[in-house]
Amino acid sequence: MKERLAKIKEEAAQKIQAAASMDVLNELKVAYLGKKGQITELMKGMKDLPAEEKPAFGQMVNATRSEIEGFLEEMKNSMEEKLLDAKMKSEVIDVTLPGKKKELGHDHPNNMILKQVEEIFIGMGYEVVSGPEVEYDHYNFEALNIPANHPAKDEQDTFYINSDILLRTQTSSVQIREMEKGVLPIKMIAPGRVFRADEVDATHSPSFHQIEGLVVDKGITFADLKGTLEEFCRRFFGEDTKTKFRPHHFPFTEPSAEVDVSCFKCHGKGCRFCKDEGWIEILGCGMVHPHVLEMQGIDPTVYSGFAFGFGLERLTLLKCEIDDMRLLYENDLRFLKQF
Ligand code: DAH
Repeated sequence: MKERLAKIKEEAAQKIQAAASMDVLNELKVAYLGKKGQITELMKGMKDLPAEEKPAFGQMVNATRSEIEGFLEEMKNSMEEKLLDAKMKSEVIDVTLPGKKKELGHDHPNNMILKQVEEIFIGMGYEVVSGPEVEYDHYNFEALNIPANHPAKDEQDTFYINSDILLRTQTSSVQIREMEKGVLPIKMIAPGRVFRADEVDATHSPSFHQIEGLVVDKGITFADLKGTLEEFCRRFFGEDTKTKFRPHHFPFTEPSAEVDVSCFKCHGKGCRFCKDEGWIEILGCGMVHPHVLEMQGIDPTVYSGFAFGFGLERLTLLKCEIDDMRLLYENDLRFLKQF
């Protein structure tokens, strides 16, 4: 009997040592100690023994049982330790490794300048509005005092969708859309994309951006227009910037003017930015034509207004010291990252 138990024990020890997984270990536990396991079967045989042999037999079997239990426990602990070890290794974070860098972009130069312009006008109480890029001839020309066959239409050689609809050539169309709402007073700027059938060169593109401005209220005079634009220019180009209003003609304003600012680079002495003139032309403006007001049902004997229009790219090229407008549209990161 002793030999048999020793054999069982030895065999169990070997198999437990060789167990490759928790599952195998559990199977071995059942095979030796389970209800139908080898040890349990041996115990069952005890009833056939003579009474005086029973205690010694019981002791021997129980001793083997607890030894096998010991082997199982030991193996289980070492397996759990190894598993934990492996888990720790696989989950380890090396805090000394360099981080993954997120490339954070920034606004396009045009948008940077637009935000500066918007901030200045918002600070003066203006609302920022927008209108459609695909526009009716009515808003783009007709209601702006530019009837069919007006020469101004030729100057803005246009992309037509059909005889009524076109890609807007100017953000001035948004003036009409705001006035037509019938809510006064109006104090708005309208930035947006415009289109003209222009050849591409350093200063022209078939698609560019304008920033329109419109104020309509009681008692608005040319002095308000001058004061507003002078203040804008000082805030945008610098405190010592001077402005010059030159008479001009736009069909939808009367009187009309073009505005030059003293060159913010050379302060009027003459340099490559102002083409040695000391002045840089930056916008068109004027008092809203009474007929334009009338067409929108606004009584020009009660209300008056002024309007102005900037080219956004022109401001960007000047402020960012860029020589060629095409660079703004190429989306070359080597260029864009410089701003
Ligand atoms: N829309 C004009 C253009 O594209 C610019 C302009 C001039 C806008 C005078 C105005 C203005 O609002 O009053 O050439």
